[in-house]
Amino acid sequence: MSKSTAPKINTTRKFPDGLASAHSLLLNAKNGVKGNHKGTRYAIPAFNVTTFQAINSALSAFDMLGSSGILAFSNSALKSFGGGDPIFGVDLVTNYIEQWAKRLKVKVAIHLDHGDYISESGKKVVQACALRFTSLMADNSTDHKNERAMPLKDNIQLTREVVNMAHPLGLSVEGELGVLAGEEDEDTKSDHSTYTNPEELEQFLLETGVLMLAPTIGTMHGPNKGKPGTKVKLNIQLSHELLKLADSINPEILFVAHGASTLYPEVVQFAVNNLEGHASQQKWKDFVGTDWDQIEGLIGAGFSKINTDTENRQTYVAALIGALKKDSAKIDIRHYDKATTEAVTQSYIKKLIMAGSYGVWHEPKIDVNKFKFDLGIDLATATGTK
Ligand code: 13P
Repeated sequence: MSKSTAPKINTTRKFPDGLASAHSLLLNAKNGVKGNHKGTRYAIPAFNVTTFQAINSALSAFDMLGSSGILAFSNSALKSFGGGDPIFGVDLVTNYIEQWAKRLKVKVAIHLDHGDYISESGKKVVQACALRFTSLMADNSTDHKNERAMPLKDNIQLTREVVNMAHPLGLSVEGELGVLAGEEDEDTKSDHSTYTNPEELEQFLLETGVLMLAPTIGTMHGPNKGKPGTKVKLNIQLSHELLKLADSINPEILFVAHGASTLYPEVVQFAVNNLEGHASQQKWKDFVGTDWDQIEGLIGAGFSKINTDTENRQTYVAALIGALKKDSAKIDIRHYDKATTEAVTQSYIKKLIMAGSYGVWHEPKIDVNKFKFDLGIDLATATGTK
């Protein structure tokens, strides 16, 4: 198999204390490395965060579990953090995470999710993130302006430009090949999906030099991943085939599953119970996630990064509904903030444990076998630290 001519990732780059490229963390996951031990393969969930509260929740979950962490920011999240200016958003969130991360003994990657190198505004965000973040996604697989799949040669050329810029700086780059259905971001939606083609995969990996790839194998973004009452089926066989091919090109290439939210039944039930008599109760009942056995199938095939956003948003909203139902006259924002932050922290802990991402940088501070995910109890009770 021929080798890529793209620049290699600069692994000697020193990031601020507590930060690391997503690739370095994910390579440990693929190789089952925790501390000085090599065990079974695990995956790292990438959590999409849109508020400082969510950043706090994720960082405390990583700290409690001694887990590697990936915090993912979409363009629209950066825009909202920056009061409309995504570049300002990049600086604000990076400064914030840097201050936090140096107090912890775990490693965290700050990742741009679905950055595009197609639009002028998208390019500016990618360039700003190259200076502050530790990992970039260059999603040039869909031409959202013209609502079509991007021709392969254009996807390759644009992604390669990002690799040329980011790899010498030590940042990992994630490319996307194929079209994923659902809503990635407020301005990037696709109604249909196409599977990744193995021949195109080989050309894409060799010509772009990306070390992280999001192939499309049937996952979907958002809370409606299928018809109510049906089960989502991913193309696990294709995943094995694509990973085998990628491994033969470079075993350090890592696969990423987008749309990996499982939707926790206990969260949905909690919201449904608290929404008796409300029109939105049926909407909650109709949400469809991907069952964990499907995501486990991907991890077994070798996927290392599992992107989850929707299930954590649902946890937040469910906890807020519950807190307001209990008492909606507490005129103190912190009361509702505490309820939602603790719930989202539980949601993150749950997924990190499911993915096997704990005890990586230090022993977990909680007993992972006793953790109880329940929005009806506080975090200290859920984690057994009361
Ligand atoms: P979910 O909508 O399944 O959470 O997926 C999120 C995602 O893939 C972000 O890139």
